Parts: sequence; C-alpha cells; structure tokens
Amino acid sequence: TPHAARVAGLVDLHGARRDALLPLLHDLQAAQGFIAEEDIRALAQALNLSRADVQGVVSFYHDFRTQPPERPVIKVCRAEACQSRGVEALLEALPADLRDRVALETVYCLGLCSVGPNALVGGQVHARLDAGKLTKLAEVAQ
Ligand code: FES
Repeated sequence: TPHAARVAGLVDLHGARRDALLPLLHDLQAAQGFIAEEDIRALAQALNLSRADVQGVVSFYHDFRTQPPERPVIKVCRAEACQSRGVEALLEALPADLRDRVALETVYCLGLCSVGPNALVGGQVHARLDAGKLTKLAEVAQ
C-alpha cells in the first residue's frame, strides 16, 4: 500500500530505532497531512513497538492529526513586498483557533505587490490585508 511503502522509505532514512519515532511521525505528518491508522501499525512493526506505544505518542502531541485535513486553504503571499508590508505580523496576530480552522500555505508573489499584503482563497485574491481582514477571511473561508 502507499502508506506501507512510505513508512518503509522513511524508516530506511531514519533507521529502525525507537528514538526515530518522533522524527518519523513528523515526516509522515508533513508528507500526508495526517497519520493514518495504517501508518501506526506499520511504524509499530518496523520499530518493534506495540501499536499502543505508537498511538500513545501520536495522541500525546496534538500537532499530529489522525484524520486527513479538511480545512479551507488560505495561500498567503510571503514574498518580499508583502513581507515589507507586514505580512508576518498579520500571521502572528491570527488567533490560534482560526489558525487551526484553516490551512495556511505560503506563496511567493501574486503579482499584486503594490496592494499587499495579499492572500488567495479559492482562486480569489484578497488584497490590502490587515489583521481584521485576515481574521475575517480565516473565519469565513470555505
Ligand atoms: Fe506579495 Fe508580490 S510580494 S504580491
């Protein structure tokens, strides 16, 4: 299966050691957006741990998800012009619950530098973002 193959590839990379469990989980999460039940089984087998051991680590760290993300994507421009117009501060000001509600992705320049900071949601550009606008976007994005 694709999951088993991915786990096997990563185990090759990190080594079949118990202390590789966390880096392995991080890599899986980054590659897939979540850790599947099947990954947990495959990891347990590869590292000679029990399924419950791996499951325990996955549920202990709440940045690991066990379901595919179904969040609306906001692509935020973090290229130079939007940087100098304060995009990082806007991102930092976004409340944590909204940060979890959406998937923030980075893009580099939407070609509208003079009206930045800009973000793209579902193919539509939102220009001249300020903290209030970005918050609103994160609240309503579908
Ligand atoms: Fe953001 Fe160009 S740098 S639109």
